[in-house]
Amino acid sequence: MQIVHTIEDLRAALRPYDSPAFVATMGNLHQGHMALVRTAKPLGDVTVASIFVNRLQFAPHEDFDTYPRTLEADCDQLASTGCDVVFAPSEKDLYPEPQGFKVHPPPELADILEGHFRPGFFVGVCTVVMKLFQCVFSEAKGPRHAVFGKKDYQQQMVIRNMVQQLALPVNIVGAETQRAEDGLALSSRNGYLSDTERTEAVHLSLALRSLARDALAAADGLPAQREALEERAMHALSQRGWQPDYLTVRRRCDLQVPQALDATSAQRLVVLGAARLGSTRLIDNFEV
Ligand code: PAF
Repeated sequence: MQIVHTIEDLRAALRPYDSPAFVATMGNLHQGHMALVRTAKPLGDVTVASIFVNRLQFAPHEDFDTYPRTLEADCDQLASTGCDVVFAPSEKDLYPEPQGFKVHPPPELADILEGHFRPGFFVGVCTVVMKLFQCVFSEAKGPRHAVFGKKDYQQQMVIRNMVQQLALPVNIVGAETQRAEDGLALSSRNGYLSDTERTEAVHLSLALRSLARDALAAADGLPAQREALEERAMHALSQRGWQPDYLTVRRRCDLQVPQALDATSAQRLVVLGAARLGSTRLIDNFEV
């Protein structure tokens, strides 16, 4: 496995290949990331992972400075999962000058849910993903694939929209969320949890499962009952000591709230949630 740090070296490493399959990460890798790499592997003739903690997608009060940087351990895991090239640029390599050009996704998709609670987050994500695509795929002659986890459901949707609207020649592949034995979605931020918090953490996914059951049971009555069901789910989680940002039932196609007509046409739904346990903010979702 080759480890490169500059855009120039990445392009040189990828020049002999036609069809890269790419996984973008911020490092501190776990089995969820390895599942993305395993999904990517058969898609192209070279598997590439990036490791870059992207300052642009963090608000000033968020955990950019403390986000764990574990390059050596990350590379060991990637090598043993069959990754061929790791791109681990420094900030100076990826942003040699302040990044003035940015990708602004449409507010109806990017200013709701995560974007509402983390203003500017998706501008940062789209900008870095666009730039990483330019770095990884510039030498490609065949199909280009990029794998993103469904755990970041809205992120994956925003990136799919960016690719579609900007006509980027990249196929976005979604990979299922990987979970611990108790059902907690794997996330780098789980590492912030104390032992007691780790035991409690599964209750976000349990609350979402229960909201999904309520949504199904409500059937055609969902548009009228949705807010009450969501409030009840958030209240139950608050009672356990969480601070929920949102637990909500949305349409899978655009993450907007389901309307009366959708219910009768069996519109497909997803439940999504974000909540803080102590100082750790966790997100999760289930397709209903
Ligand atoms: O999902 C992540 O880890 C990040 O948002 C991404 C896609 C690597 C962009 O920095």
